[in-house]
Amino acid sequence: MAAATIETSALTRSYGEICALKPIDLLVPEGEWLSVMGHSGSGKSTLMNLVGGLDRPSGGALKVGGKDLLALSEDGLARFRREYVGIIFQQHHLVPYLSAVENVMLAQYFHSTPDEAEARNALERVGLGHRLKNRPGELSGGEQQRVCIARAIINSPKLLLGDEPTGNLDHKSTMMVMELLKELRAEERFTVVMVTHNQEVAAWGDRTIYLDDGVLVREERTRC
Ligand SMILES: Nc1ncnc2c1ncn2[C@@H]1O[C@H](COP(=O)(O)OP(=O)(O)O)[C@@H](O)[C@H]1O
Ligand SMILES: [Mg+2]
Repeated sequence: MAAATIETSALTRSYGEICALKPIDLLVPEGEWLSVMGHSGSGKSTLMNLVGGLDRPSGGALKVGGKDLLALSEDGLARFRREYVGIIFQQHHLVPYLSAVENVMLAQYFHSTPDEAEARNALERVGLGHRLKNRPGELSGGEQQRVCIARAIINSPKLLLGDEPTGNLDHKSTMMVMELLKELRAEERFTVVMVTHNQEVAAWGDRTIYLDDGVLVREERTRC
């Protein structure tokens, strides 16, 4: 599949009477790190879920990596998510009774085949080589999010999505997670779309878009 360019045209999503996303035109070039800001309820997660193939639009056009997501069947969309997208949420959604390495292997299992050496390696890359056998409850919030990053990158996604991944972390852990994402992106060259409430976190991106009541009201380039 082609590079992770995101192209939306008059993209909308309604939930009954609620118009969560008004027509949105957005182009995210391959390799860009896009930050998404806006008040609670402004449509950030809705946009993220559409781009990641977790939800379907009500109208408009949506292409990711050259693939028309509206044209995909449920199976096709599931394959797209599995092969193309890595996601990190605010809540870690790790399986509580599995160790860190088993949680990463579970993601490999859903993608193709578990490979413990590879899963260990991914955890070493996020600085958790010494916490492989610990369960999520034995890890700090920052460590849990680092397991989620290992889980998100294990299948080499072209598109990494974050929905407030540092929303529950203190400043120090937030900066560690951001630094780590920056390092991994330098190596893997994936495209990043990152929802955040934190201006400092948004500034790690190349560009920030602002949503207000489902409308893309403003954008700001943080880097040339
Ligand atoms: N599954 C859903 N069913 C009904 N309304 C929803 C659903 N998901 C989101 N919404 C509504 O859509 C709007 C945008 O929500 P969301 O995208 O979650 O905002 P944000 O992530 O910016 O806080 C809100 O008014 C929210 O209540
Ligand atoms: Mg949200």
